[in-house]
Amino acid sequence: MDIPRLLAETELKKVEWFEEIDSTNDRALLLAIQPNLPTPYLIGADRQVSGRGRGTNRWWGSDGSLMFSVVVDMTSIGLTPVDWPRFSLVTGLAISTMLSSFIPGSAVGLKWPNDVWLQGRKVCGILIEQCDRSPDRLIVGIGLNVNNSFECAPEDMRQIATSMTDAASGNTFSRTDVLVSFLKEWKTLTQYVVDGSINLVERWSRACVLSGFPVKIINGNLESIGVCAGIDSDGALLLRTAFALEKHYAGTVRLLE
Ligand code: BTN
Repeated sequence: MDIPRLLAETELKKVEWFEEIDSTNDRALLLAIQPNLPTPYLIGADRQVSGRGRGTNRWWGSDGSLMFSVVVDMTSIGLTPVDWPRFSLVTGLAISTMLSSFIPGSAVGLKWPNDVWLQGRKVCGILIEQCDRSPDRLIVGIGLNVNNSFECAPEDMRQIATSMTDAASGNTFSRTDVLVSFLKEWKTLTQYVVDGSINLVERWSRACVLSGFPVKIINGNLESIGVCAGIDSDGALLLRTAFALEKHYAGTVRLLE
């Protein structure tokens, strides 16, 4: 990873890069407690031994993937807690935009709330966590399959996961280029949320891979079944059930057959 380039071409104030770490999100949660931490602060790693996914899931990133976490200070970028669902969506949207520019013509979409799909399979997972002792700070953890091919992976894995190289007929990508491009797009889209200059609802509704499909949303022990009616302007998933148009701000969504 070309750290001087990351610092020169993006808004990042500090970068740490590890050959191996337990989890970049865990490291970020530790750092985020420091009141004078320069932000945005990025922690990246070539390997994670206990990478975490959403809920109780693990994240397995093999060689060639991109795994990093960014400590973001919400107040200093001009966002409040109400903006968090939209901030989470623009993170996925920035990954999607970057993917479309590196692999033109590929099918890229958002699986609400935090996954990005490429050619109908998951290419990127996003884990956003709040730092309890510095509630203004969010940890945005991203796992993106770049040069790690799934071609030789077990069949059940190949059905659900892919990478940039798989979608680009084996071409490989500079992870620095990919990261710089994402960070620039992320900044631009976050600014639209802050100043409201561009309404992103049309963009994320168009990108929503669940729109029009029957889905089940699970949030703790609550479950709802309906047809996904897109994503609202505040970032909520819209679910048309037999009784109402429901808005969901958190949960795991499964596509139903
Ligand atoms: C998910 O799809 O469930 C979210 C996966 C998030 C994985 C990334 S990899 C970098 C960062 N560190 C972690 O331990 N997890 C996130």
